Formats: sequence, C-alpha cells, structure tokens
Amino acid sequence: MITLKKVNITETILRDANQSLIATRMSFDQFAPILKELDNAGYYSLECWGGATFDSCLRYLNEDPWERLSKIKSVVTKTPLQMLLRGQNILGYKHYPDDVVRRFIKMAVYHGIDIIRIFDALNDYRNIKVAMDETKKQGAHAQGTIVYTVSPIHDVDNYTNLAKQLENMGADSICIKDMAGLLMPNIAYDLVKNIKENVKIPVFLHSHCTNGLAEMSYLKAVEAGVDGIDSAISSLCSGTAQPPTESMHYALTSAGYNTNLDKDKLTIINNFFKPIREHFISSGRLDPKVLTPRPEGLINQIPGGMLSNMISQLKAQNSLDKLDSVLAEVPKVRKDLGYPPLVTPMSQMVGTQATVNVLTGERYKMILKEVKAYCRGEYGKAPGEINNEVMKKALGNETPIEGRYASTLPPAFENAKKEISELSTREEDILSYLSFPQIAKEFLSNRNNNPSVEYTRIETKSTAV
Ligand code: CO
Repeated sequence: MITLKKVNITETILRDANQSLIATRMSFDQFAPILKELDNAGYYSLECWGGATFDSCLRYLNEDPWERLSKIKSVVTKTPLQMLLRGQNILGYKHYPDDVVRRFIKMAVYHGIDIIRIFDALNDYRNIKVAMDETKKQGAHAQGTIVYTVSPIHDVDNYTNLAKQLENMGADSICIKDMAGLLMPNIAYDLVKNIKENVKIPVFLHSHCTNGLAEMSYLKAVEAGVDGIDSAISSLCSGTAQPPTESMHYALTSAGYNTNLDKDKLTIINNFFKPIREHFISSGRLDPKVLTPRPEGLINQIPGGMLSNMISQLKAQNSLDKLDSVLAEVPKVRKDLGYPPLVTPMSQMVGTQATVNVLTGERYKMILKEVKAYCRGEYGKAPGEINNEVMKKALGNETPIEGRYASTLPPAFENAKKEISELSTREEDILSYLSFPQIAKEFLSNRNNNPSVEYTRIETKSTAV
C-alpha cells in the first residue's frame, strides 16, 4: 500500500482570518456553537488566540481573553490549540521583562494553549529565546518563526541559516511567516526544499492571499515537502487572510496528499460561518475591498494596513496629495534602517518616518522616538546595516546597546500586582493589565461594577515562575 504524504492543516478562522478580515470582532458567543465540529474536522491545529484577539477581547468585546481560551479548550479537546506570540513583545508593541514573558506563557498553556508560534519582527532570536524556553518548560510545542520579507540582503541561504538557528535553539518546528503575501511560488519551493534539507524538524508555511500568490506558493511548498500550511474556512478566507481550507483540501487530495480533513465536517463548518460573514458585510465591518487581491503590493511591498495608516496620517495633515512622494520614500527609509521586514511594529515605524520625512520637507529633520529606540538597539539587531548618517542624527554621541534589550529591564510583575490590587488580585488580570494597561483597567472596573454580567471566575493554581 502506498502511504500518502501528510500535509497538516492549521485552521485560522478564529484568529488570523478573524483578525485580517474583520479586525478580530468575532465574539466567543458567535463561534461557540461550531467549536465541536472544528474539533472533529481533523485539523492539525486550531489557531484561536494571540495576535490581536487578546486586545480585541478587552477593548471591543468585553470578554476576558483568558476565559475565552478556557471555554474553547473545554470544547476543543482533541485538536491542539495554537497561538501567535510576538516573542519578547508578548502581544503588545514594547519589550517586556522576562518575568512577564514567562508568566504570560505559563498562564496561556495553563488555560489550554498547546502550540505557540513565536516570532520577532527582526528575526533577532535573542528576542524569542526566553519565550521558547518557557514554552518548552510548560510542556507545550514551541514553533520558531522566520519572518519572511524581500530585500537585497535576504535570500534562501540567509533564511536557511535562520532555520538552523531555530533548530539549534530547541524549536519543535519552524514556521515561514509570509505576513505580507510576498512569497513567490518558485521561491516558496526553493526555500522549503533548502530548509528541509538542512533541518530535521517539521516546517510550516503561513501566508496571506493579499497579492494573489498564496495558493500557488502553498502548492509549490507542498511539492517541496512542507509539513503544514495555514488556511481559513472559505466563508472567511482569501484577500488579506489565508487560502480557503476546502479548496486546499480538494487540490491536495487530488494530487495524492493526505490532509486528514473530513470534507463533510468542512461543509458544516463553512455553512455555519456563512451568516456570520453576511452579518459582518452588512454591518460594514467586512469591507469587500479586503477580499480582492492587490498585486501592486508586490511592487511597493507596502502591506494594506500600513497603506491605510499612511493615508489617514496624510489626510489628518491635509496632505493627501503627497501620497506618491511618501510611497516613494518608504523603500528609502526601509533601506536606511537596514531592511527590516514590514511587520508590526516596523511597518508603522517605517511608514510614519517616511511620512514625516516628506511632510517636513527634509529627510530625518525630525526622527521618531521609536526610530531612535530602534537605532539604539532596543528592538534587536537590524537585519542589515543602519545608514551611518541616520544613526548619527538619531543617537548623537550615544552608543547603541550591545546585548539583548530585555536583559536591561527590571522585573515588572510584582509592581503591576500592587498597581491594580484594588481592581483584582487574579494573576490573569494582572497579566492583562501588563499587556494593555488602560484598556485592562477599564475592562476590570467595568466587570467589578457590573456583577450581574455573567462571569465565571476561573480558579487557578498558584503560578509562580
Ligand atoms: Co498572518
């Protein structure tokens, strides 16, 4: 009997598709009725937490993110639950001290996370080391990530070296994260093949249909031996999200691969999400524009979210006529900063500095404090060389830090605990507060003031690190 090559499928409907298409506004109650079917469909994993879900729960949905996770876990008992974590940034935009990173991961695993995909925007693995260590300590699967970008200093060999580094650090698997949908099908093939030849651990590919390439890249990656891909059930897929799960399943099955998915279950799941899609279209939250590929992103490499930010910044300054100059300035700023991948927080940093460069009429006349911190080394090591003059303008005589920035940060958990002791003493709430201070405070006081709001307190064991 011929053994079919297995291709693992991770479903992103609850996290990335939810985030990319409808700004993570799907509430637990909306998707709760379909969790059992999701668990029974045969997915390798269900991505359901991390990224923007945590922020959105607290800010918009009045949901406790920890409780959401526990509730998912109580139904999804067979399929591993997966989350996305920004390394030392956890789920926020700044670097946290190690005690907070460790406690957060410990709590996430305690509430049900099985696989943590950990990335650093600059692929500086000193920034994911602690998160990976704690993930493994907690008995969860640590997936190390290569953030994919296109630049004169990035190539297949360079990415393969990163893959080897991840394996040496003890990663259980590797994810190639093509967040901007820039990965060309032939490069997907070369990249996966080369990495597979050089590391023993499984390799996964995560992409977005933003530029119309993802399905092609997935197929080429599968042909090169990739172990898994991320997809989204078809009612909320494509565009700025992932390729459709069902189509990938049919295409791969037809080509002789085994996805382990149950097509009847996929139909049930998709039918369930159809009215939810309609709801978000009629509420205006799902803009059909994001469902259409935008291949011009391949020319300027500006992710959709970054473009809309720049447009609103220019509008606020009454300078929308400068958009073309700003678009031309973006690649120059990116080059000056050593070609960082345009992923959060670098996309915002590069976009805003380019806008400022154009609006002030003189390049780097004003330098953002985030760019100064980047030059100082607070975000990690730049992939390439930072332009000398920019460096001088940003730092003056100050010398950049050599080591890992987070090592210079004092522990923060105990202080945070004191700061919100009147609102809560629950460790989950302290971690929410550390992640999003103002929003978590509002959420917690709102909860305290509305005892009638249904809220099941989850008792946890002591979680000292
Ligand atoms: Co993504």
